[in-house]
Amino acid sequence: MFADRLAGDAARIQAHFDQVLAGLDALPVAQAMAYATAGGKRLRGFLVLEGARLHGVGPERAIWPACAIEALHAYSLVHDDLPCMDDDDLRRGRPTVHVKWNEGTAVLAGDALQALAFELAAHEDCGPAAVRADLALSLARASGARGMVLGQALDIAAEEAPAPLSLEQITRLQAGKTGALIEWAACAGARLAGAETAPLARYAGALGLAFQIADDILDEEGDAEKAGKRLRKDAEAGKATFVSLLGLEGARSRAKELAEAAEAALEAYGAQADPLREAARFVISRDS
Ligand code: IPE
Ligand code: IPE
Ligand code: MG
Ligand code: MG
Ligand code: MG
Repeated sequence: MFADRLAGDAARIQAHFDQVLAGLDALPVAQAMAYATAGGKRLRGFLVLEGARLHGVGPERAIWPACAIEALHAYSLVHDDLPCMDDDDLRRGRPTVHVKWNEGTAVLAGDALQALAFELAAHEDCGPAAVRADLALSLARASGARGMVLGQALDIAAEEAPAPLSLEQITRLQAGKTGALIEWAACAGARLAGAETAPLARYAGALGLAFQIADDILDEEGDAEKAGKRLRKDAEAGKATFVSLLGLEGARSRAKELAEAAEAALEAYGAQADPLREAARFVISRDS
């Protein structure tokens, strides 16, 4: 079952974080790093482990990029929740890092998690030097001013914009904010094997967009208890989202089409790719 598989990969990722973070000083920043990397669905790490399996690469190598992307994602959430960004006090069902500690600790824990992500992506156990360099370089491109940071910057700029964004603008924003890291996660296994990333990039393009539409639907009509974060924030902030632009029904049917397109992109991999197909269905039916 998909849920068991995801839970198994999540446990593996958590155990690896426990090991990697064990040697740090007992400072608040280290405690906050462990706190921020705990929990979550682990979808991105799952994509790394499953994409690697598809290419005959086992978890002893793939766990490094799986934790790398989860560390990078955790950093993005710690900073996203800061008062100067989305100003949120709840994440994964617990107080956000700046609420539990303070803003300085949250900024530094985010910084350190970002550095840790690159340390893990370039770890010796990932494979030959060329593979490690490829993982680190592609992660830098996915995370920075052409990737996740671009999306976040467009998101905060939109709050000041005189008119709501168009569907085209929202799609570009999403491609950075959520799409870039999801694409990196889906392609990392192919990179570990030195294989073609294009089919998995196509899969991830559709999956990432479906994922963000689902996030916007959750924000509109989800259950905050289950989601573990404050909801109805987008409408409150007057943000244009896929839901405000397409309506709830329109957003739902677009997400469904995209999940189907993601599954179709996996055709060349046969039944081996079934867990990734199930991930596409999971992404649009999730309640957290
Ligand atoms: C939430 O990501 C933030 C977005 C990019 C929309 P997830 O929904 O994957 O968060 P966790 O990791 O499961 O908490
Ligand atoms: C966050 O997007 C995306 C990143 C952190 C890169 P959101 O602001 O929509 O995520 P939530 O809704 O707070 O989880
Ligand atoms: Mg945000
Ligand atoms: Mg947010
Ligand atoms: Mg959101």
